[in-house]
Amino acid sequence: MNIIDIINKTKRAVPLSDEEITYAVNGYTSGDISDYQMSAWLMAVCLNGLTDRETFALTKAMRDSGDVLDMSCINGITADKHSTGGVGDKTSLIVGPAAAACGVYVPKMSGKGLGHTGGTIDKLESISGFRTELPFTEFADIVNKTGFSIISQSDTLCPADKKIYALRSATGTVDSIPLICASIMSKKLAMNTDMLMLDVKCGSGAFMKTNLDARRLADLMERVGDAAGKKCRAIVTDMDSPLGSCIGNAIEVKEAIELLQGKEKGKLYDVCIELTANLLELAGKGTFGECMHMAEEAVSSGRALEVLRKTIELQGGDCRICDDVSLLPQPRFSHEIRASRDVEIVAVNTEELGMASLLLGAGRLKKDDAIDPTAGIVLDFEVGDKISMDAPLMTLYSTNCSDFSEAALRAYNAITFRDLTATALT
Ligand code: URA
Repeated sequence: MNIIDIINKTKRAVPLSDEEITYAVNGYTSGDISDYQMSAWLMAVCLNGLTDRETFALTKAMRDSGDVLDMSCINGITADKHSTGGVGDKTSLIVGPAAAACGVYVPKMSGKGLGHTGGTIDKLESISGFRTELPFTEFADIVNKTGFSIISQSDTLCPADKKIYALRSATGTVDSIPLICASIMSKKLAMNTDMLMLDVKCGSGAFMKTNLDARRLADLMERVGDAAGKKCRAIVTDMDSPLGSCIGNAIEVKEAIELLQGKEKGKLYDVCIELTANLLELAGKGTFGECMHMAEEAVSSGRALEVLRKTIELQGGDCRICDDVSLLPQPRFSHEIRASRDVEIVAVNTEELGMASLLLGAGRLKKDDAIDPTAGIVLDFEVGDKISMDAPLMTLYSTNCSDFSEAALRAYNAITFRDLTATALT
């Protein structure tokens, strides 16, 4: 077996055997196969795709490149929840505690921000003292006590994915459905929870831009999950506009807490309730209608907020933020953008808003860049709103960056307006 034959086969759309796929993954992880050879194979996958069998073999080979966790120490049904990446996506901070409040254990490992998309770990690290790196025994102990814990992805889980993902980022080979599926599912299967609830984001702020591609990825992930013997459900949710009104880190934690305090409704609330209800139904907690009711009650009763509070406390964070969000880090600088005329908001380029937030310091341009926990954007509109001249559109925040010009221009240009003054005149 050799890598050149493997590259040529995929280049000609000839399916590989499981052994050939394992050979490629193990060879690349150990360093026997070079970056340029793996890049050539990844590009061939991007152009020709993989069969379901090949995708499953790739997922398993990546899962088996590192530890597969043993969740038998958790005192009940375990479920992992995963979103494929978006802008303003703080669903894990809400769905995890809500599901835990309804009796499902949610042990979760998350990543840092990726490109224009935010990362749950960066958001949690904005909480003073919060520890995102814990030994497995402590992580499991917290899950047993509160029902929910999130820590950062351990280095011993799926090292093959880590290496392949870095290469994909640098070689234009991220947006391939089988590669995204194998990357996500290998990590989920290595977590080894009883069930998987997958949230495939679709739209201008997501990796999947069309509904067709999002559904294809969702179906493929469900088939791979089934083949691995996991109860698995994938739903497609909208990422054509940011989820909620806040994009950043501390401000997204604030928005999640305010939702759990019962102060926020709207699209973010609806998506979180839908995800939680699906997860509960998958866990056998009742019909979908009953599970919707349970999810809503977990939030309105404050029980989900109590789970989050206890988890923050046990992970060393300042849990007083659950009562007083002003204790989260506050920005030094702000810049408000107002409407220059009467307008209707027709659409937003969500990826561009994510990039504007990244430029303010909420994300990383380079892998090792430090995050500004206070940076981000608060939107004062939703798509479809009519905004009067001089009314606020959004406010940009930062502590590390006092020059807002580049981010402000990018954020403003991300919005498609319809001029209502012109309409009124005609
Ligand atoms: N998230 C992942 O973990 N992997 C991908 O390929 C895309 C999103």
